[in-house]
Amino acid sequence: MQYVLSNKEFEMFRGLIYDTCGISLTLSKKELVKSRLAKRLSTLGIDTFSDYYQYVTKSEKTGKELVQLVDSISTNKTDFFREKKHFDFLDTNLLPSLISSKEKSKNRKLRIWCAAASSGEEPYTLAMTVFNHIKPGNGWDVKILATDISTRVLQKAINGVYDKKLLKDIPPETISSHFSPVLVDKTNCYKAKDHLKDVITFRRFNLMTEKFPFKYPFDFIFCRNVMIYFDPDTQQRLVSKFYDCLPKDGHLFIGHSETLSRSNSKFKYVLPAAYRK
Ligand SMILES: C[S@@+](CC[C@H](N)C(=O)[O-])C[C@H]1O[C@@H](n2cnc3c(N)ncnc32)[C@H](O)[C@@H]1O
Repeated sequence: MQYVLSNKEFEMFRGLIYDTCGISLTLSKKELVKSRLAKRLSTLGIDTFSDYYQYVTKSEKTGKELVQLVDSISTNKTDFFREKKHFDFLDTNLLPSLISSKEKSKNRKLRIWCAAASSGEEPYTLAMTVFNHIKPGNGWDVKILATDISTRVLQKAINGVYDKKLLKDIPPETISSHFSPVLVDKTNCYKAKDHLKDVITFRRFNLMTEKFPFKYPFDFIFCRNVMIYFDPDTQQRLVSKFYDCLPKDGHLFIGHSETLSRSNSKFKYVLPAAYRK
């Protein structure tokens, strides 16, 4: 079926998406929105975008369908060891220094937040990097909170099963330490081992939440390649909420194509796309 999305209808969805998850869409994204939402219309047997808008906003299914709409719109591109310089910095600099100062103060807790975790490649990479320094079950309490707004990608992350091709750049000895080979529908895949899964908690969380509910500060936060979808005001509010979730010297990592405004941010620059409180 050929669906028609008028400019007025596009504006309605644009507003709804912005209010719900902060994603700021320009008119140039109209075709993308149309093709992604057309799949929902087809699945639900709805004929027009106006009817779908009513369905999302007015029906008793509100909430449930909004989750589906956000799932359809969000861009989830990610990779293991993406923007590797951040993981090199963790490996050679930040983790050794955090671990040594925590050993001294007998506070053997590490708290990390991966704030736009997508399908899990990034939090699993964080866990692998931590395990270069801390072995499972040696008295350390490591918790990685991995959140995303999309339930679809979170389910993939929780499963922790990836096509073998996605791990092609990871050294074989790292793969065998942290993944087991599995066959899924005749495709060679790898499944994350329990020691990786045990340190990660996956949760749905919307970064637009007014007040972040976390009880403890994080040693560092990864929030990479999502702020590019937000407008400058939204980015600034988010960065200031991250600031409040970090202790002194806590680090914030953002995507390499993103920047913190020098004039408005209280963070100190450390290296490209990495900042310290
Ligand atoms: C391009 S992926 C980035 C994944 C990973 N951080 C990386 O750099 O490889 C962006 C992710 O942000 C999520 N996202 C978009 N808006 C969000 C929001 N308001 N709250 C939480 N997550 C959001 C999307 O669902 C998507 O999985």
